[in-house]
Amino acid sequence: MVPLLTIRHATGAYPVYFGRGFLSRLGELVEPRGQAFVVTSPNLRERYGYPVASSFPAPLPLIEIEEGEARKTLATVESLVSALLEAGARRDSMILAVGGGVVGDTSGFAASILLRGIDLVQIPTTLLAQVDSSIGGKVGVNHAKGKNLIGSFHHPRAVVVDPSTLDSLHDQDFLSGLFEALKGGVVGDPELFERITNAPGALLARDRETIDEVIRRKIGVKASIVGADEREGGIRRLLNYGHTIGHALEAAAGYEGITHGEGVAWGMIGANAIALARGVLPRSEATRIESAILALKPAPLRALTREDVLAAAAHDKKNRLGKRVMVLPRRIGECTVVEDVAEHELAHGIDAVLASQ
Ligand SMILES: NC(=O)c1ccc[n+]([C@@H]2O[C@H](COP(=O)([O-])OP(=O)(O)OC[C@H]3O[C@@H](n4cnc5c(N)ncnc54)[C@H](O)[C@@H]3O)[C@@H](O)[C@H]2O)c1
Ligand SMILES: [Zn+2]
Repeated sequence: MVPLLTIRHATGAYPVYFGRGFLSRLGELVEPRGQAFVVTSPNLRERYGYPVASSFPAPLPLIEIEEGEARKTLATVESLVSALLEAGARRDSMILAVGGGVVGDTSGFAASILLRGIDLVQIPTTLLAQVDSSIGGKVGVNHAKGKNLIGSFHHPRAVVVDPSTLDSLHDQDFLSGLFEALKGGVVGDPELFERITNAPGALLARDRETIDEVIRRKIGVKASIVGADEREGGIRRLLNYGHTIGHALEAAAGYEGITHGEGVAWGMIGANAIALARGVLPRSEATRIESAILALKPAPLRALTREDVLAAAAHDKKNRLGKRVMVLPRRIGECTVVEDVAEHELAHGIDAVLASQ
């Protein structure tokens, strides 16, 4: 089977396969060196876990991990590692992670530390995981002190994206992934941005052709960026557009009533306000981006104050020596990393978000 693309990294390369129906053809796409295990969550087991497991000549054992962001923890990793060892995992074993970003990040992290690293295949089933989290090799879990504070880089052997899994996704999770795709357009692909802006209705109605094209293009953006910068020293940081204020909004809301993608969408509007005030982004471009976001109808933010959001932003792990790092757009398709955003600029960005809904 011909992959959609191949991602190269310092120690190798891996294919990203894309196709409807590929989930039940996993056995044709990957060749485990030793015993492989399907790892998924209870509500994905029947619909997606078993088809993957039974696509191999000898059906694979299936291990479940618990659902939800609150369970993306070291405790879950430990119980997964125990289950794998009890089931006979060895150095040549493979994890096939079937699920959204939570399953992918948690089982990916387990794969990175078990026996100093075993093989991993990512089989993302949410839009966000298909266009973002499954690609690039970042894996990890949350800590009580913050999200994604424990982790490593562990490249998968392959990523298999089957967009037919999106048929069962809840609207809010679908929308979350769409905003990450829109972000990808502003960061590095004006054509992707156009496709999303030209067809918000078709996307929200989940028109297959439109979705497939958006996924393919967004995977292309992420692949080219992580291929050029594996460890987030340089251009990979551009993918954080919308994330400084977005993460702060998510944290200030207690991660309730707001998806990650919605946080990013509002955060893009905030970053744009800062870029506008600095004179690096033309108003016409800011207006196009904001219209594209609002056409997809992110849920309005709960009653948050500027102070709540500023306090949450103070904990951002990307702050450097007291200076705030942010990604600002120059135009659709080109963003830049700035490392000197002042507190009053951030406050201005947050005000713009709170005023725009
Ligand atoms: N590693 C990275 O580079 C990276 C990048 C972005 C985000 N992330 C992480 O990804 C996580 C978010 O991922 P997510 O948005 O996929 O959330 P998620 O994994 O929690 O999935 C959202 C919900 O959708 C359900 N679900 C999954 N697939 C489904 C399907 N096909 N049909 C019906 N329901 C389905 C899940 O069971 C869950 O309830 C966060 O923890 C975030 O930190 C990681
Ligand atoms: Zn994100």
